[in-house]
Amino acid sequence: MTQNKSDHVVRFAAVGDLHVRKESAGQLRDFFSQAAKAADALLLCGDLTDYGTAEEAKVLADELSVVSVPVVAVLGNHDYEGGVPATVCEILTKQAGVKVLDGEACEIEGVGIAGVKGFAGGFGRGSLGAWGEPAIKTFVQEALNEALKLESALAKLRTPRKIAVLHYSPICGTVQGEPVDIFPFLGSSRLEEPLLRYPVDAVFHGHAHRGTLEGKTIGGVPVYNVAKPLLARARPGQLPFRLFEVPREETVAA
Ligand SMILES: [Fe+2]
Ligand SMILES: [Fe+2]
Repeated sequence: MTQNKSDHVVRFAAVGDLHVRKESAGQLRDFFSQAAKAADALLLCGDLTDYGTAEEAKVLADELSVVSVPVVAVLGNHDYEGGVPATVCEILTKQAGVKVLDGEACEIEGVGIAGVKGFAGGFGRGSLGAWGEPAIKTFVQEALNEALKLESALAKLRTPRKIAVLHYSPICGTVQGEPVDIFPFLGSSRLEEPLLRYPVDAVFHGHAHRGTLEGKTIGGVPVYNVAKPLLARARPGQLPFRLFEVPREETVAA
């Protein structure tokens, strides 16, 4: 336990959009080591690699070797680009002990975590509807499937404190700052629906590199955009991860 950590809270360091390439070898160790010193666990919000190759996943696994706290992650769209997301996942799991969530839940020090990549489709009245060509219906179905996976992960959590980890944004608020033309590709309100039924303490996502740091769901749940390029630009001089504290649940001694 370092001086920065407290017995009264569980601290999470969240960051997304690392976009690791083969040239990234050696460049992230210090960053990860600082994040791990400050937190009890790391949350990685997708676009872990740039092209979704095994080579990039190995570089990331190597960089993570300095981290001794648990690491929970979801994949992002870039992690699918190489067509081998299962391999990316396996390398991170086996070589770095990362818990990659794809519609599953896990627990870190009494805090429940639900994770899913999510998908695009737009927000509110601008949401794409499942109408017309089969390709449109397939696209919308993908967003619905991801929302269902999030819902089933959230439904599994039995802990009083909960966190949701996504890559795509569930709300429009944290993509503000991006060109309006691409909002529909940055997330989907369909991901917000499960969060209204199963509120959490915080939602973390990435993907919108030029978005806004903080927003809220309609239900008032805080949503944090932790895309690394955004954190670096918006908070110069600070390490590009967001620390989030959850009060530690008291365990009653027998
Ligand atoms: Fe990204
Ligand atoms: Fe992305």
